[in-house]
Amino acid sequence: MTAPWWQNGVIYQIYPRSFQDTNGDGIGDLRGIERRLDDLVSLGVDAIWISPIYPSPMVDFGYDVADYCAIDPRFGTLADFDDVLMQAHRRGLKVLLDFVPNHTSDQHPWFVESRASRQNQKRDWYIWHDAAADGGPPNNWISDFGDSAWEWDETTGQYYYHAFLKEQPDLNWRHPAVRAAMYDVMRFWFDRGVDGFRIDVLWHMVKAADFPNNPPNPAYRPEMGEMHRLLQLHSTDQPEVHRIAAEMRDIADGYGARGQGERVLIGEIYLPVDRLMHYYGGERPEVHLPFNFQLIDTPWQARALAAVITSYEAALPLGGWPNWVLGNHDRPRVAAKRGQAQARVAAVLLLTLRGTPTLYYGDELGLSDVMIEASQVRDPRELREPGLALGRDPVRTPMPWDDSENAGFTTAHPWLPLNADWPTRNVARMSEEPQSILTLYRRLLALRRNRRALSIGNFVLLNVDDEMLVYERRHGSERLIVALNLGAQSHRLPLPDWGRGSRVLLSTVADAALVEDGALLLGSNEAVVLEAG
Ligand code: GLC
Repeated sequence: MTAPWWQNGVIYQIYPRSFQDTNGDGIGDLRGIERRLDDLVSLGVDAIWISPIYPSPMVDFGYDVADYCAIDPRFGTLADFDDVLMQAHRRGLKVLLDFVPNHTSDQHPWFVESRASRQNQKRDWYIWHDAAADGGPPNNWISDFGDSAWEWDETTGQYYYHAFLKEQPDLNWRHPAVRAAMYDVMRFWFDRGVDGFRIDVLWHMVKAADFPNNPPNPAYRPEMGEMHRLLQLHSTDQPEVHRIAAEMRDIADGYGARGQGERVLIGEIYLPVDRLMHYYGGERPEVHLPFNFQLIDTPWQARALAAVITSYEAALPLGGWPNWVLGNHDRPRVAAKRGQAQARVAAVLLLTLRGTPTLYYGDELGLSDVMIEASQVRDPRELREPGLALGRDPVRTPMPWDDSENAGFTTAHPWLPLNADWPTRNVARMSEEPQSILTLYRRLLALRRNRRALSIGNFVLLNVDDEMLVYERRHGSERLIVALNLGAQSHRLPLPDWGRGSRVLLSTVADAALVEDGALLLGSNEAVVLEAG
């Protein structure tokens, strides 16, 4: 049986404000994405996920949606979107949208109605609650962006709940009309031909019906951000969310046939692995890919990584397909966190583990977190809890395409500053450099496309010690060995019998890796892919 595209393909996340501007307003747009589709094809990815492009007051840069079935004029029109979709499909690229079901913007007509009066027919579409006896918020729940998650509404004399900003009221998913309306939104985009959704904060969608206080977090330290003062025991990951995920899956499965046309659902879920696994579904399937964010936070050590990989593999339910991520628009960039040499090793890891990889735009250039002056801060996360390094602007900066003005991103003033090294760290320049990380990504993606062992093959851990992580990927008679040296010392790795005579297909370090006398010689921070001889 052939694997569906979302299992053997590679997903590429586009943060649309920062990808390519075509109308000279300093903000990326849909025509910009269309213009860059060929670059994505030449990079070698299979699908794009576009962060939200819907009409929005942009208080949380599009994650505050005011209309789910339209395009924000800053990004273009519905016709522009249809063009992107058609042009992407013509090139064999799938297109995923970001679905933000947990909350709307406070400017969404549903919320405008809901807050108009207690009698309004949309009142219960959101989560309203009387004040506590002392007049304060109904319980102790904290917004993920700090402070109480409840906002007092003077007009109707009740509080409403917002897991994020007060401009992002949470929908009441216990209400059947809300579910029906949001499922229609999914159908609207599926009918246009989108290939799937990344579902924003899926584990947040249902809250305990009686709103008990959340317990304190014993591991809390102030630098973590105020949200971590409590454990989100009652405000997230409630059993009823699984029925919703299953209903969403039913809708997705109703479209397309198996194979080519299959629509995919990816859930944004920050939970420990045992909880995460529930989102694959039990009796009823739920999301195809509950995002696995573990590589972002695991210490950069061979044993720690091996433990994460093997425990994740072991925890997968029958038929559950793995996935891996190095970064996204909310988390520090891999190059900033690990270093440049390590970012190359991380690229090998991401693209040779078993499971669907999602790349974050710019990581293929080794883009680092960009220093943002206080006066340039745009992210509400940073504005609300400054100085804790929680802000996300540093990872959302414009894509540097070439060495022309503003790196070819815009003819205007870019909405966030470019990386200071853009004259050399840009797509055009690095495409010409045989040793650039961009060239490494291209080669890895091409190798992965040509060797099924790398995309759908079995995973076997061969060896782990303090610095080395070695595994095999096998499919039929195809056997590849991936060896990562995470340390600063060189290593000599004896190869198994069948590995003798194997050859190096790819290395992160120019001409360094050698197979000699049945052993592999690896330099510091070098990763290689070998083919058995
Ligand atoms: C998700 C998004 C993040 C956003 C939040 C609220 O975590 O990835 O960017 O701020 O949801 O919608």
